[in-house]
Amino acid sequence: MSLLTVSKLTKRYGRGGKTLAAVDDVSFHVEPGETLALAGPSGSGKSTIARLVLRLIEPDGGGIEFEGDDFLALRGAPLRVRRARLQMVFQDPLAAFNPRATVARVLDDPLRIHGVASRSERPRRIAALLERVGLAAGLAPRAIHEISGGQRQRVAIARAIATKPSLIVLDEAVSALDVSVRGQILDLLLDLQHQERIAYLFISHDLGVVRAIAHRVILLDGGRIAESGDARTVIDAPQSAVGKALVAAAPRLDRSRP
Ligand SMILES: Nc1ncnc2c1ncn2[C@@H]1O[C@H](COP(=O)(O)OP(=O)(O)O)[C@@H](O)[C@H]1O
Ligand SMILES: [Mg+2]
Repeated sequence: MSLLTVSKLTKRYGRGGKTLAAVDDVSFHVEPGETLALAGPSGSGKSTIARLVLRLIEPDGGGIEFEGDDFLALRGAPLRVRRARLQMVFQDPLAAFNPRATVARVLDDPLRIHGVASRSERPRRIAALLERVGLAAGLAPRAIHEISGGQRQRVAIARAIATKPSLIVLDEAVSALDVSVRGQILDLLLDLQHQERIAYLFISHDLGVVRAIAHRVILLDGGRIAESGDARTVIDAPQSAVGKALVAAAPRLDRSRP
């Protein structure tokens, strides 16, 4: 059984009297512990798929099965339990969190809301989470707006893993970072995946990043799947028009990364 199965997912938006299918009949699955990338040009539907999978928006058609449940049908307590297992990291943690909140507060919230740890245990859990993502425990009292972009993204990852998820949806999670910081965050993600067997739905417009982290890739074009397969095979020899255009536009694809 797949961890996540998306079937014939469709989402339409009205635009000037017409409707546009932002996501059009998209089907895919994610296996436990694997990274599936969604790549494609701006406007191809990547973020809409992320929001649908996270149930931040409702689809016009299609189904989502997560950990064996009909995810779209879940309500109440069973939905809360499943939500803890499906976490997210977005491009800009300054927008995702209250910038004046402390690092400790950002990490305390999921531990409290999902009942992961008691009040007295939580400071220890927070310190352990910070250590797990390569941050000093001394960062806990600092405000989100005071720390660097790379540190903020590490906090976002710590928050995502706090509830022991089986799947994390990452939407352009490393796109705003400098190249060196981006490499460190990708290494952290790979390490977490190996240690905790977390699956990633990894969304990026950057094929170099996709090639470095993903097992499989789906290339989207206008809300539809243009091409999919083994990440390196697809990126090294794209067959679709959109794949060829994306590779031609990529500044430099690092093929040396193991
Ligand atoms: N809330 C919305 N209202 C109207 N159109 C939207 C909305 N969200 C996305 N779209 C449209 O859906 C398409 C896909 O957008 P998106 O999923 O954000 O693409 P990507 O993340 O690949 O850049 C685009 O044409 C975008 O303009
Ligand atoms: Mg997007």
